[in-house]
Amino acid sequence: MLRIDVITLFPEVIEAGVRYSIVGRACEWGLTQVRALQLRDFAAGKHRKTDDEPYGGGAGLVIKPEPIFKAVEFCRPTAHTRIVLLEPQGKLYTQAIAHELAEQEHLILICGHYEGVDARVREHLATDVLSIGDYVLTGGELPALIIIDSVVRLLPGALHSPESLAQDSYADGLLGYPQYTRPEEFRGMRVPSVLLSGNHGAIARWRRREQLRLTRTLRPDLFARACLTSDDVELLKELE
Ligand SMILES: C[S@@+](CC[C@H](N)C(=O)[O-])C[C@H]1O[C@@H](n2cnc3c(N)ncnc32)[C@H](O)[C@@H]1O
Repeated sequence: MLRIDVITLFPEVIEAGVRYSIVGRACEWGLTQVRALQLRDFAAGKHRKTDDEPYGGGAGLVIKPEPIFKAVEFCRPTAHTRIVLLEPQGKLYTQAIAHELAEQEHLILICGHYEGVDARVREHLATDVLSIGDYVLTGGELPALIIIDSVVRLLPGALHSPESLAQDSYADGLLGYPQYTRPEEFRGMRVPSVLLSGNHGAIARWRRREQLRLTRTLRPDLFARACLTSDDVELLKELE
């Protein structure tokens, strides 16, 4: 079972975010356990102060190191625990990292707020520093939920149809193919006829060709890194 501890000033956000759908079900089924810890509970003093002004001056407040170190220690990390600090300066989170995290037994996710977290957390406590994209959010709670969601759906037993993982975008370095459902025609827009043909070989070829076409058009950066087979090269010739 994957244990996930989230250290945050807003545990309610995490608790609400893991209650529904696939993640909620995975928690109920015991595939994972998500615990949100209130950072303030680990702060010292009558006022349980978790933040202070930055040394050197400047705007805003910085989260103090002591409560974060104490909260992580409370989670009893082992040598294998991945202690993930969420920061916009972190390594860009990808599906490959989601797969890696889904194989762990224990994750600790540290959510920053305000101007961020005292740099000693990054330097001496975190095993990983991850960013969910090149933009700045108010706090680490949404990034933590994004990581939890993307990791938990990879856990064995989490999805009703695990084969759908293989069809997902990024599963093999390409974007996913377009999906259609009933009705066959909607406001004059028709489902591609090959999908109605019942010819499984033709459908598989069409889907792969669409994956190649979409990735080349929408994500040339991914396309440049994709490992293409000789069949893919043939399909690409058809697109020319
Ligand atoms: C307002 S941000 C701090 C931004 C920081 N001053 C900077 O410029 O990098 C507050 C917190 O939100 C979280 N956060 C914001 N954007 C994020 C992103 N793109 N990925 C991961 N965490 C993010 C982090 O936990 C961060 O400590």
